[in-house]
Amino acid sequence: MACFKEKIKILKGNIVHTKTSEAFNIVENGYIVVKENSVEGVYDKLPGKYEGITVKDYGDKLIIPGFVDLHTHAPQFAIKGIGYDKELIPWLETYTFPEEAKFKDKGYAEKIYKEFVEELCNQGTTRAVIFGTIHEESTEILMKLLDDKGITSYVGKVNMDRNCPDTLKEDSDESIKKTIQWIENCSGKYKFVKPIVTPRFVPSCTGYLMEELGKIAEKYNLPVQSHLAENPSEIEWVNELHPDCKNYGDVYDKFNLFGQTKTIMAHCVHLTEEEIAKIKMNEVVIAHCPTSNVNLSSGISPISKLLKKNIQMGLGSDISGGETLNMFSVMASAIKMSKLRYVCFKEEEKPLTIQEAFYLATKGGGRFFGRVGSFEEGYEFDALVIDDKNLWKVSKGSIEERIERLIYFGNEENIINKYLSGKVLN
Ligand code: GUN
Ligand code: FE
Repeated sequence: MACFKEKIKILKGNIVHTKTSEAFNIVENGYIVVKENSVEGVYDKLPGKYEGITVKDYGDKLIIPGFVDLHTHAPQFAIKGIGYDKELIPWLETYTFPEEAKFKDKGYAEKIYKEFVEELCNQGTTRAVIFGTIHEESTEILMKLLDDKGITSYVGKVNMDRNCPDTLKEDSDESIKKTIQWIENCSGKYKFVKPIVTPRFVPSCTGYLMEELGKIAEKYNLPVQSHLAENPSEIEWVNELHPDCKNYGDVYDKFNLFGQTKTIMAHCVHLTEEEIAKIKMNEVVIAHCPTSNVNLSSGISPISKLLKKNIQMGLGSDISGGETLNMFSVMASAIKMSKLRYVCFKEEEKPLTIQEAFYLATKGGGRFFGRVGSFEEGYEFDALVIDDKNLWKVSKGSIEERIERLIYFGNEENIINKYLSGKVLN
């Protein structure tokens, strides 16, 4: 009996999560029982078998799942919030590439990556999928910092061998060799952090490089991340570079980088019906990045339509296309943009609801990591304890209203405690 009790943690508070994108699951003044690292159950009354176990009582606070950021660029942290007068390609050339070239310097990488990891954790992101740069040593610095912090993440050493400045352009064979060395060096090395194969996007990778990366992903059974159909000029360029392919997604598919292993494609703003069908068939996961899509004038993703088709999706902050790692803010942007699409494009799909946005930021992205992102039985216990009293000057609204206001106004100050896989995250 003593042993059973030692493995159990019980938290009390207003518990909110989403099993599906349709509705909140709310237990007011409820109990979450956590056994080792996973949820054993959520109860409105504590079952007798747990009597005698100390309850961590969070009173009127909210307990929600930790956030999942499915797409972000750690080396762009120092240039967030600038350069949004330009669209994707000139923005990359003017701001992003020169900044990423600085990560050849490990001292600079250590400084910026420390700030990034600290902020990611402060914002309540417990799981993330992250781009590094082409520099494998700096990428390992990022992996080590994330691991020390205890944030479960996938990190990619970026590959690029064309259409970029010499400071970032890799020799194709060297890029392949370094990627293999990096994978062999870091696989199994960290408790919380794993490698992910990361061709930057089609315009910056030759067919040869993409083909080899497809083989590497298969050989080492690693997931893949890249960008897809973000901006109209980018898509036109891809069509010119690969006239043999039907569309942008088809280029990745040709090189086995489109769901052959678990794959995340960021943006997917301007997809053809054929691409959507292939994404669904290959179970490619879409990282929707609304803050970035508005900042870089990329467009408005048909997020509600994609959700209705049951395509697996989550949210991405896409620093520094997006200006913030605050996932409340990313959720609010997703809702606002889908409303603009609804009004301007006159489509039948209704705008994203609060529940859908919350689902995308938690369980939608969490699926990429396994049983993550909700408080269903057997799910890893990633959670945020939220104190929202500063958002309610007179009396508080219903739990649903409190979540809605939190999405529009919440920030790191509202997050008073964090758990990752059952352990407190500091
Ligand atoms: N496409 C290729 N590289 C990038 C990047 O760094 N950010 C965004 N938003 N899109 C990209
Ligand atoms: Fe990106």
